[in-house]
Amino acid sequence: MPTTTYMVVDPRHDHGFRVPRPDRTVSLGTPNACNQCHTDKKPEWAAAAIKSWYPHPKPGYQTFAEAFALAGRGAPGALQALVAVAADRELSGFVRAGAIRRLGPYLSPATLPTIRTALGDADSQVRAAAVGVLPGADAGLRGQLLPGLLGDPVRQVRMDAARALAGEPESRLPPQERARFSSALDEYVAAERFNVDRPEGRASLGNLHAVQGRFDEAVAAFRGALALDPSFEQAALNLADLYRSRGLEGEADRTLREVLKRNPRSAPARFALGLSLTRQSRAAEALKELAEAAKLAPENTRFAYVHAVALNDAGRGGEARRELEGALKRQPYDREVLLALALFERDAGSRARALGHAQRLAELEPESPQVKQLVRELGGGP
Ligand code: HEC
Repeated sequence: MPTTTYMVVDPRHDHGFRVPRPDRTVSLGTPNACNQCHTDKKPEWAAAAIKSWYPHPKPGYQTFAEAFALAGRGAPGALQALVAVAADRELSGFVRAGAIRRLGPYLSPATLPTIRTALGDADSQVRAAAVGVLPGADAGLRGQLLPGLLGDPVRQVRMDAARALAGEPESRLPPQERARFSSALDEYVAAERFNVDRPEGRASLGNLHAVQGRFDEAVAAFRGALALDPSFEQAALNLADLYRSRGLEGEADRTLREVLKRNPRSAPARFALGLSLTRQSRAAEALKELAEAAKLAPENTRFAYVHAVALNDAGRGGEARRELEGALKRQPYDREVLLALALFERDAGSRARALGHAQRLAELEPESPQVKQLVRELGGGP
Protein backbone atom coordinates (compact mmCIF):
# COMPACT_ATOMS: atom_id res chain seq x y z
CA MET A 1 0.00 0.00 0.00
CA PRO A 2 1.50 3.37 -0.96
CA THR A 3 2.60 5.86 1.72
CA THR A 4 1.97 9.58 2.11
CA THR A 5 4.34 11.73 4.16
CA TYR A 6 2.67 13.54 7.05
CA MET A 7 4.12 16.34 9.22
CA VAL A 8 7.14 16.51 6.86
CA VAL A 9 8.75 13.37 8.34
CA ASP A 10 6.13 10.64 8.82
CA PRO A 11 5.55 8.27 5.89
CA ARG A 12 2.26 6.50 6.63
CA HIS A 13 0.31 3.88 4.77
CA ASP A 14 -2.95 5.41 3.66
CA HIS A 15 -5.96 3.22 4.33
CA GLY A 16 -8.51 5.35 2.52
CA PHE A 17 -10.47 3.41 -0.09
CA ARG A 18 -12.33 5.21 -2.86
CA VAL A 19 -14.01 4.11 -6.06
CA PRO A 20 -11.17 4.50 -8.60
CA ARG A 21 -11.96 7.29 -11.08
CA PRO A 22 -9.40 7.24 -13.90
CA ASP A 23 -11.98 9.21 -15.93
CA ARG A 24 -11.25 12.10 -13.56
CA THR A 25 -7.55 11.69 -14.25
CA VAL A 26 -8.46 12.30 -17.87
CA SER A 27 -10.72 15.30 -17.16
CA LEU A 28 -9.05 16.86 -14.09
CA GLY A 29 -5.60 15.34 -13.74
CA THR A 30 -6.28 13.77 -10.32
CA PRO A 31 -4.36 10.58 -9.44
CA ASN A 32 -6.09 7.18 -9.54
CA ALA A 33 -5.33 3.78 -8.01
CA CYS A 34 -5.29 1.88 -11.32
CA ASN A 35 -2.39 3.76 -12.89
CA GLN A 36 -0.33 3.58 -9.69
CA CYS A 37 0.16 -0.09 -10.61
CA HIS A 38 -0.40 0.10 -14.34
CA THR A 39 2.25 2.78 -14.79
CA ASP A 40 2.83 1.74 -18.41
CA LYS A 41 -0.79 2.47 -19.36
CA LYS A 42 -2.62 5.75 -19.89
CA PRO A 43 -5.56 6.80 -17.68
CA GLU A 44 -7.76 6.57 -20.79
CA TRP A 45 -6.99 2.82 -20.86
CA ALA A 46 -8.05 2.38 -17.23
CA ALA A 47 -11.19 4.47 -17.76
CA ALA A 48 -12.15 2.33 -20.76
CA ALA A 49 -11.55 -0.89 -18.76
CA ILE A 50 -13.87 0.29 -15.99
CA LYS A 51 -16.47 1.32 -18.52
CA SER A 52 -16.41 -2.14 -20.08
CA TRP A 53 -16.81 -3.78 -16.63
CA TYR A 54 -19.52 -1.41 -15.44
CA PRO A 55 -21.60 -0.13 -18.37
CA HIS A 56 -23.84 1.56 -15.77
CA PRO A 57 -21.46 3.95 -13.98
CA LYS A 58 -20.88 3.63 -10.25
CA PRO A 59 -19.51 7.09 -9.52
CA GLY A 60 -18.97 6.80 -5.74
CA TYR A 61 -19.34 9.76 -3.40
CA GLN A 62 -16.68 12.13 -4.69
CA THR A 63 -19.09 14.33 -6.60
CA PHE A 64 -17.34 17.49 -5.43
CA ALA A 65 -14.13 17.04 -7.44
CA GLU A 66 -15.24 19.24 -10.34
CA ALA A 67 -16.20 22.10 -8.00
CA PHE A 68 -12.88 21.92 -6.14
CA ALA A 69 -10.98 21.75 -9.44
CA LEU A 70 -12.75 24.88 -10.70
CA ALA A 71 -11.93 26.61 -7.41
CA GLY A 72 -8.29 25.56 -7.64
CA ARG A 73 -8.00 27.36 -10.96
CA GLY A 74 -10.27 30.26 -9.98
CA ALA A 75 -12.21 29.41 -13.16
CA PRO A 76 -15.67 30.70 -14.14
CA GLY A 77 -18.47 28.87 -12.36
CA ALA A 78 -16.33 28.05 -9.28
CA LEU A 79 -18.41 30.18 -6.93
CA GLN A 80 -21.74 28.63 -7.95
CA ALA A 81 -20.29 25.10 -7.84
CA LEU A 82 -18.88 25.62 -4.33
CA VAL A 83 -22.15 27.08 -3.06
CA ALA A 84 -23.93 23.97 -4.37
CA VAL A 85 -21.47 21.61 -2.62
CA ALA A 86 -21.76 23.56 0.64
CA ALA A 87 -25.56 23.24 0.51
CA ASP A 88 -25.64 19.51 -0.36
CA ARG A 89 -26.72 17.73 2.83
CA GLU A 90 -25.86 14.34 1.29
CA LEU A 91 -22.17 15.23 1.47
CA SER A 92 -20.05 14.80 4.58
CA GLY A 93 -19.28 17.70 6.89
CA PHE A 94 -15.62 17.39 5.93
CA VAL A 95 -16.41 17.97 2.26
CA ARG A 96 -18.86 20.81 2.92
CA ALA A 97 -16.22 22.43 5.15
CA GLY A 98 -13.77 22.11 2.25
CA ALA A 99 -16.21 23.96 0.00
CA ILE A 100 -16.68 26.72 2.59
CA ARG A 101 -12.92 27.17 2.98
CA ARG A 102 -12.56 27.51 -0.78
CA LEU A 103 -15.25 30.22 -0.79
CA GLY A 104 -12.88 32.44 1.22
CA PRO A 105 -11.58 34.39 -1.80
CA TYR A 106 -15.17 34.90 -3.04
CA LEU A 107 -16.55 36.56 0.08
CA SER A 108 -19.28 38.89 -1.25
CA PRO A 109 -23.03 39.48 -0.98
CA ALA A 110 -23.45 36.49 -3.34
CA THR A 111 -21.72 34.06 -0.94
CA LEU A 112 -22.70 35.60 2.39
CA PRO A 113 -25.95 33.59 2.81
CA THR A 114 -23.91 30.37 2.41
CA ILE A 115 -21.36 31.49 5.03
CA ARG A 116 -24.13 32.60 7.38
CA THR A 117 -25.88 29.21 7.12
CA ALA A 118 -22.57 27.42 7.63
CA LEU A 119 -21.94 29.33 10.87
CA GLY A 120 -25.06 27.64 12.28
CA ASP A 121 -24.31 24.15 10.88
CA ALA A 122 -24.70 21.17 13.21
CA ASP A 123 -21.23 19.92 12.17
CA SER A 124 -18.42 21.77 13.96
CA GLN A 125 -16.05 21.26 11.00
CA VAL A 126 -18.40 23.36 8.88
CA ARG A 127 -18.75 26.05 11.55
CA ALA A 128 -14.97 26.18 11.98
CA ALA A 129 -14.48 26.55 8.22
CA ALA A 130 -17.02 29.38 8.08
CA VAL A 131 -15.31 31.20 10.95
CA GLY A 132 -12.03 30.64 9.13
CA VAL A 133 -13.03 32.62 6.04
CA LEU A 134 -14.08 35.69 8.02
CA PRO A 135 -10.79 37.13 9.35
CA GLY A 136 -10.37 38.86 5.98
CA ALA A 137 -13.85 40.43 6.07
CA ASP A 138 -14.39 44.03 7.12
CA ALA A 139 -14.69 44.77 10.82
CA GLY A 140 -18.43 45.52 10.66
CA LEU A 141 -19.27 42.16 9.13
CA ARG A 142 -17.06 40.30 11.59
CA GLY A 143 -18.71 42.13 14.48
CA GLN A 144 -22.10 41.12 13.13
CA LEU A 145 -21.49 37.44 12.35
CA LEU A 146 -18.96 36.15 14.85
CA PRO A 147 -20.12 37.00 18.39
CA GLY A 148 -22.71 34.21 18.21
CA LEU A 149 -19.88 31.67 18.04
CA LEU A 150 -17.98 32.86 21.11
CA GLY A 151 -19.97 30.37 23.22
CA ASP A 152 -19.67 27.48 20.74
CA PRO A 153 -19.39 24.04 22.38
CA VAL A 154 -16.20 23.35 20.40
CA ARG A 155 -13.09 25.15 21.63
CA GLN A 156 -11.51 25.54 18.19
CA VAL A 157 -14.58 27.41 16.95
CA ARG A 158 -14.68 29.69 20.03
CA MET A 159 -10.96 30.45 19.76
CA ASP A 160 -11.07 31.22 16.03
CA ALA A 161 -14.11 33.45 16.48
CA ALA A 162 -12.37 35.40 19.26
CA ARG A 163 -9.14 35.67 17.25
CA ALA A 164 -11.06 37.05 14.24
CA LEU A 165 -12.83 39.59 16.47
CA ALA A 166 -9.62 40.81 18.15
CA GLY A 167 -8.68 44.37 17.33
CA GLU A 168 -11.18 46.73 15.77
CA PRO A 169 -14.43 44.69 16.07
CA GLU A 170 -13.67 43.81 19.71
CA SER A 171 -14.03 47.44 20.83
CA ARG A 172 -17.59 47.56 19.52
CA LEU A 173 -18.88 44.47 21.33
CA PRO A 174 -21.71 45.05 23.81
CA PRO A 175 -20.81 44.29 27.48
CA GLN A 176 -22.42 40.81 27.70
CA GLU A 177 -20.51 39.69 24.58
CA ARG A 178 -17.26 41.24 25.81
CA ALA A 179 -17.13 38.77 28.69
CA ARG A 180 -17.57 35.80 26.35
CA PHE A 181 -15.02 37.31 23.99
CA SER A 182 -12.43 37.66 26.77
CA SER A 183 -12.80 34.10 27.94
CA ALA A 184 -12.61 32.69 24.39
CA LEU A 185 -9.56 34.84 23.64
CA ASP A 186 -7.94 33.64 26.89
CA GLU A 187 -8.40 30.10 25.60
CA TYR A 188 -6.68 31.08 22.34
CA VAL A 189 -3.77 32.74 24.16
CA ALA A 190 -3.40 29.73 26.45
CA ALA A 191 -3.22 27.44 23.40
CA GLU A 192 -0.53 29.57 21.76
CA ARG A 193 1.41 29.91 25.06
CA PHE A 194 1.43 26.13 25.25
CA ASN A 195 3.32 26.29 21.94
CA VAL A 196 5.87 29.00 22.77
CA ASP A 197 8.66 26.45 22.47
CA ARG A 198 7.91 26.72 18.74
CA PRO A 199 8.49 29.92 16.73
CA GLU A 200 4.99 29.57 15.22
CA GLY A 201 3.36 29.93 18.66
CA ARG A 202 5.32 33.11 19.39
CA ALA A 203 4.58 34.58 15.96
CA SER A 204 0.84 33.89 16.45
CA LEU A 205 0.95 35.83 19.71
CA GLY A 206 2.86 38.59 17.90
CA ASN A 207 0.12 38.81 15.28
CA LEU A 208 -2.54 38.98 17.99
CA HIS A 209 -0.72 41.77 19.84
CA ALA A 210 -0.24 43.59 16.52
CA VAL A 211 -3.97 43.68 15.65
CA GLN A 212 -4.72 44.76 19.21
CA GLY A 213 -2.31 47.69 18.84
CA ARG A 214 0.10 46.38 21.50
CA PHE A 215 3.23 47.31 19.58
CA ASP A 216 5.97 46.57 22.13
CA GLU A 217 4.55 43.18 23.03
CA ALA A 218 4.17 42.31 19.35
CA VAL A 219 7.80 43.25 18.61
CA ALA A 220 8.97 41.19 21.60
CA ALA A 221 6.95 38.15 20.44
CA PHE A 222 8.31 38.30 16.87
CA ARG A 223 11.86 38.80 18.16
CA GLY A 224 11.32 35.86 20.50
CA ALA A 225 10.26 33.69 17.57
CA LEU A 226 13.38 34.72 15.65
CA ALA A 227 15.61 34.05 18.66
CA LEU A 228 14.29 30.47 18.73
CA ASP A 229 14.71 30.03 15.01
CA PRO A 230 16.44 32.76 12.99
CA SER A 231 15.39 31.03 9.75
CA PHE A 232 11.67 31.40 10.57
CA GLU A 233 11.07 34.04 7.92
CA GLN A 234 7.39 34.58 8.51
CA ALA A 235 8.13 36.16 11.90
CA ALA A 236 10.57 38.62 10.31
CA LEU A 237 8.12 39.43 7.51
CA ASN A 238 5.36 40.09 10.04
CA LEU A 239 7.72 42.18 12.18
CA ALA A 240 8.65 44.27 9.14
CA ASP A 241 4.97 44.72 8.35
CA LEU A 242 4.34 45.85 11.93
CA TYR A 243 7.08 48.50 11.56
CA ARG A 244 5.51 49.58 8.27
CA SER A 245 2.11 49.99 9.91
CA ARG A 246 3.76 52.40 12.38
CA GLY A 247 5.53 54.31 9.60
CA LEU A 248 8.92 52.95 10.75
CA GLU A 249 10.10 52.26 7.20
CA GLY A 250 13.81 52.26 8.17
CA GLU A 251 13.23 49.48 10.72
CA ALA A 252 11.18 47.50 8.20
CA ASP A 253 13.97 47.86 5.64
CA ARG A 254 16.61 46.70 8.13
CA THR A 255 14.54 43.69 9.24
CA LEU A 256 14.03 42.52 5.65
CA ARG A 257 17.69 42.94 4.75
CA GLU A 258 18.60 40.72 7.73
CA VAL A 259 16.37 38.01 6.25
CA LEU A 260 18.03 38.43 2.87
CA LYS A 261 21.50 38.23 4.40
CA ARG A 262 20.58 34.75 5.67
CA ASN A 263 18.64 33.75 2.58
CA PRO A 264 19.20 35.86 -0.54
CA ARG A 265 16.70 33.67 -2.42
CA SER A 266 13.72 34.55 -0.22
CA ALA A 267 11.14 35.81 -2.71
CA PRO A 268 8.68 37.09 -0.05
CA ALA A 269 11.47 39.13 1.61
CA ARG A 270 12.58 40.58 -1.76
CA PHE A 271 8.97 41.44 -2.52
CA ALA A 272 8.37 43.12 0.87
CA LEU A 273 11.65 45.04 0.51
CA GLY A 274 10.55 46.17 -2.95
CA LEU A 275 7.31 47.53 -1.51
CA SER A 276 9.18 49.21 1.35
CA LEU A 277 11.57 50.88 -1.11
CA THR A 278 8.58 52.06 -3.15
CA ARG A 279 7.15 53.72 -0.05
CA GLN A 280 10.57 55.27 0.57
CA SER A 281 10.36 56.77 -2.97
CA ARG A 282 13.39 54.73 -4.09
CA ALA A 283 11.73 53.50 -7.29
CA ALA A 284 14.79 52.21 -9.14
CA GLU A 285 15.98 50.04 -6.23
CA ALA A 286 12.38 48.91 -5.63
CA LEU A 287 12.03 47.78 -9.23
CA LYS A 288 15.17 45.64 -8.90
CA GLU A 289 13.83 43.85 -5.79
CA LEU A 290 10.37 43.33 -7.31
CA ALA A 291 11.94 41.87 -10.45
CA GLU A 292 14.02 39.49 -8.36
CA ALA A 293 10.97 38.38 -6.32
CA ALA A 294 9.00 37.65 -9.49
CA LYS A 295 11.95 35.72 -10.91
CA LEU A 296 12.51 33.66 -7.73
CA ALA A 297 8.83 32.70 -7.42
CA PRO A 298 7.38 32.54 -10.94
CA GLU A 299 4.29 30.69 -9.66
CA ASN A 300 3.29 33.72 -7.58
CA THR A 301 1.11 35.87 -9.84
CA ARG A 302 0.86 38.61 -7.22
CA PHE A 303 4.64 39.16 -7.42
CA ALA A 304 4.43 39.24 -11.23
CA TYR A 305 1.53 41.66 -11.12
CA VAL A 306 3.23 44.14 -8.79
CA HIS A 307 6.47 43.89 -10.79
CA ALA A 308 4.52 44.63 -13.98
CA VAL A 309 2.83 47.66 -12.44
CA ALA A 310 6.24 48.98 -11.34
CA LEU A 311 7.65 48.42 -14.84
CA ASN A 312 4.68 50.23 -16.36
CA ASP A 313 5.13 53.13 -13.94
CA ALA A 314 8.76 53.32 -15.03
CA GLY A 315 7.63 53.77 -18.64
CA ARG A 316 8.54 50.19 -19.62
CA GLY A 317 5.07 49.19 -20.83
CA GLY A 318 6.23 46.49 -23.25
CA GLU A 319 8.11 44.60 -20.55
CA ALA A 320 5.17 45.06 -18.18
CA ARG A 321 2.80 43.43 -20.67
CA ARG A 322 5.22 40.54 -21.26
CA GLU A 323 5.46 39.92 -17.50
CA LEU A 324 1.66 39.84 -17.23
CA GLU A 325 1.31 37.54 -20.23
CA GLY A 326 3.75 35.11 -18.59
CA ALA A 327 1.70 35.20 -15.38
CA LEU A 328 -1.51 34.63 -17.32
CA LYS A 329 -0.09 31.50 -18.93
CA ARG A 330 0.33 30.04 -15.46
CA GLN A 331 -2.92 31.44 -13.99
CA PRO A 332 -5.37 32.09 -16.86
CA TYR A 333 -8.09 33.38 -14.51
CA ASP A 334 -6.16 35.78 -12.28
CA ARG A 335 -8.44 38.81 -12.03
CA GLU A 336 -5.76 41.35 -11.13
CA VAL A 337 -3.56 40.25 -14.00
CA LEU A 338 -6.44 40.24 -16.51
CA LEU A 339 -7.56 43.74 -15.53
CA ALA A 340 -4.04 45.18 -15.62
CA LEU A 341 -3.36 43.58 -18.99
CA ALA A 342 -6.65 44.89 -20.43
CA LEU A 343 -5.81 48.42 -19.28
CA PHE A 344 -2.16 48.29 -20.39
CA GLU A 345 -3.11 46.94 -23.84
CA ARG A 346 -5.78 49.61 -24.19
CA ASP A 347 -3.28 52.32 -23.26
CA ALA A 348 -0.82 50.89 -25.79
CA GLY A 349 -3.50 51.16 -28.47
CA SER A 350 -4.11 47.38 -28.87
CA ARG A 351 -7.85 47.48 -28.47
CA ALA A 352 -8.59 43.99 -29.79
CA ARG A 353 -6.16 42.38 -27.34
CA ALA A 354 -7.47 44.54 -24.50
CA LEU A 355 -11.00 43.41 -25.32
CA GLY A 356 -10.00 39.72 -25.21
CA HIS A 357 -8.73 40.10 -21.64
CA ALA A 358 -11.73 42.20 -20.60
CA GLN A 359 -14.08 39.55 -21.97
CA ARG A 360 -12.42 36.81 -20.00
CA LEU A 361 -12.77 39.01 -16.94
CA ALA A 362 -16.48 39.41 -17.75
CA GLU A 363 -16.81 35.61 -17.84
CA LEU A 364 -15.45 35.53 -14.29
CA GLU A 365 -17.43 38.49 -12.99
CA PRO A 366 -20.58 38.69 -15.10
CA GLU A 367 -22.27 40.98 -12.56
CA SER A 368 -19.48 43.55 -12.16
CA PRO A 369 -20.56 46.98 -13.49
CA GLN A 370 -16.90 48.10 -13.84
CA VAL A 371 -16.06 45.11 -16.00
CA LYS A 372 -19.19 45.61 -18.12
CA GLN A 373 -18.24 49.26 -18.57
CA LEU A 374 -14.71 48.30 -19.63
CA VAL A 375 -16.00 45.78 -22.20
CA ARG A 376 -18.36 48.43 -23.58
CA GLU A 377 -15.62 51.04 -23.73
CA LEU A 378 -13.46 48.63 -25.73
CA GLY A 379 -16.27 48.13 -28.22
CA GLY A 380 -17.31 44.62 -27.10
CA GLY A 381 -20.97 45.09 -26.24
CA PRO A 382 -23.95 47.36 -25.89
C1 HEC B 1 -2.19 -3.29 -6.79
C2 HEC B 1 -1.86 -3.12 -8.20
C3 HEC B 1 -3.01 -2.99 -9.18
C4 HEC B 1 -4.03 -2.09 -9.13
C5 HEC B 1 -4.30 -1.01 -8.09
C6 HEC B 1 -4.82 -2.32 -10.32
N1 HEC B 1 -4.30 -3.34 -11.05
FE1 HEC B 1 -5.04 -4.04 -12.81
N2 HEC B 1 -3.69 -5.55 -12.77
C7 HEC B 1 -2.68 -5.66 -11.86
C8 HEC B 1 -1.91 -6.83 -12.18
C9 HEC B 1 -0.67 -7.33 -11.41
C10 HEC B 1 -2.50 -7.41 -13.34
C11 HEC B 1 -2.04 -8.61 -14.08
C12 HEC B 1 -2.75 -9.79 -13.65
C13 HEC B 1 -2.31 -10.99 -14.48
O1 HEC B 1 -1.53 -10.80 -15.38
O2 HEC B 1 -2.84 -12.02 -14.20
C14 HEC B 1 -3.64 -6.56 -13.66
C15 HEC B 1 -4.46 -6.78 -14.73
C16 HEC B 1 -5.37 -5.85 -15.22
C17 HEC B 1 -6.08 -5.95 -16.46
C18 HEC B 1 -6.00 -7.11 -17.43
C19 HEC B 1 -4.68 -7.01 -18.11
C20 HEC B 1 -4.78 -6.55 -19.55
O3 HEC B 1 -3.77 -5.98 -20.00
O4 HEC B 1 -5.80 -6.80 -20.17
C21 HEC B 1 -6.84 -4.83 -16.59
C22 HEC B 1 -7.73 -4.43 -17.73
C23 HEC B 1 -6.62 -4.05 -15.39
N3 HEC B 1 -5.73 -4.69 -14.59
C24 HEC B 1 -7.24 -2.83 -15.13
C25 HEC B 1 -7.16 -2.18 -13.91
C26 HEC B 1 -7.99 -1.06 -13.55
C27 HEC B 1 -9.02 -0.38 -14.42
C28 HEC B 1 -7.66 -0.72 -12.28
C29 HEC B 1 -8.30 0.35 -11.43
C30 HEC B 1 -9.69 0.14 -11.14
C31 HEC B 1 -6.58 -1.62 -11.88
N4 HEC B 1 -6.32 -2.48 -12.88
C32 HEC B 1 -5.94 -1.57 -10.65
C33 HEC B 1 -2.40 -4.82 -10.78
C34 HEC B 1 -3.21 -3.77 -10.39
